Amino acid sequence: MSTLGPSAYHGTVDTWEIVGGTRLVGDVRLTGAKNSVLKLMAAALLAPGRTVLAEVPEILDVDIMAQLLSRLGADVTRDHAAGVVAIEVPEILDHRADYDLVRRMRASISVLGPLLARCGEADIALPGGDNIGSRGLDMHVAGLERMGAQVSVEHGYLHAVAKRLHGHTIWLDFPSVGATETLLMAAVTAEGRTVIDNAAREPEVVDISHMLVEMGAQIGGVGTSTLVIDGVEALTPVHHTTVSDRIVAGTWAVAAAMTQGSITITNARPEHLEIALDKLATAGADIEVHPDSFTVSMDKRPQSVDIVTLPYPGFPTDLQPQFIALNAISQGASLVTENLFEARFRFVHELARLGADVQTEGHHALVRGRPALSGAPVEATDIRAGAGLVLAGLVADGLTTIHEVHHIDRGYSGMIDDLRRLGAQIERVTG
Ligand code: UD1
Repeated sequence: MSTLGPSAYHGTVDTWEIVGGTRLVGDVRLTGAKNSVLKLMAAALLAPGRTVLAEVPEILDVDIMAQLLSRLGADVTRDHAAGVVAIEVPEILDHRADYDLVRRMRASISVLGPLLARCGEADIALPGGDNIGSRGLDMHVAGLERMGAQVSVEHGYLHAVAKRLHGHTIWLDFPSVGATETLLMAAVTAEGRTVIDNAAREPEVVDISHMLVEMGAQIGGVGTSTLVIDGVEALTPVHHTTVSDRIVAGTWAVAAAMTQGSITITNARPEHLEIALDKLATAGADIEVHPDSFTVSMDKRPQSVDIVTLPYPGFPTDLQPQFIALNAISQGASLVTENLFEARFRFVHELARLGADVQTEGHHALVRGRPALSGAPVEATDIRAGAGLVLAGLVADGLTTIHEVHHIDRGYSGMIDDLRRLGAQIERVTG
């Protein structure tokens, strides 16, 4: 495997220093979605041979997933300049995912389905990852049990066994992205028909469904909440291009609105961001949409907008902190309701250090917009909280120092370079 990319800062004490107050103007190009590519890499395990993924973002989580796949026996090579990862999958895989890697990234759980399907057994250390709530695995487990797996937890490992999975109808209590993906990957080579009802419809779920179909899987209802999967004997490796990152796109869109700038976001799928763009329009932004790009421009102080996070096509929880940052400097008050991850409001304590007025009660946050924020040292508590703090720092008066930036490196490739090109005063200070 190639050496770790420029995003490999986990464990260092780097900080980002931002001097706020410049308008961001220019273009940024998106790469593939973090939340898709990690699952596509896991799905590669389903087919012996060489799978090639394009538009792979230059982020640390891709390196962690590459290490995990290597540990399972795959040979992973990454061409950083081309944004391509090649995964050579052997006939025989190891079926154990160890704690040292899994604890660094919750998405490691996505090897569970493929390993069970390929090896008839999987041992996965219980995952860690973002610090944003309890994030159970009960729906993954219940679904696999329906399909004939025996699942137990011993010594911090989830142990699943099934000689051959068989199809079943599974009703998810909640349209969980992770559970839908696990069950999809388990079902594609199971015996008979699996129906996943109340399935997640996120564009990243659609992306993995498309890749699995290209590999030879039979999946009906792609993009709907009922997925019908007819198991096939085997899959074949493919070349696949990762869907572009709607959350990074949304983050740039909010950056344009907050800094009263104008940013054109290219290689984008604006149709995946309809509610978020509609909210920005309500806040007063001018939005121009083209087939694979869009421009967000703002020439005045934004108006506050209420937000309720929901599964897709609802407002994405991964853009909630960025919109709280927007509301913190907007005119008026807003109510933000978080329905997915209970701990996601932790970051408002950091935002308060910049002068934001945010009051939380359970899963609601009341944000009273202030005309200005003032720079201060703050700490990123997870990827999207980190993004929200960067946005706040861009408009705060004076110097904002962001600590624990390895979280941001996990989700945003080349963010500092892009910010600089757009006119921001930002630097990484290596500790
Ligand atoms: C994925 C994304 C994350 C995004 C989230 C919702 C990745 C790597 N991460 O996370 O960025 O915010 O979708 O769009 O793709 N739950 C259970 N039991 C389960 C499964 C989930 O209780 O078996 C709960 C979780 O605790 C959470 C909610 O369901 O409260 C949503 O989880 P889920 O949709 O599965 O999100 P992730 O796949 O973890």
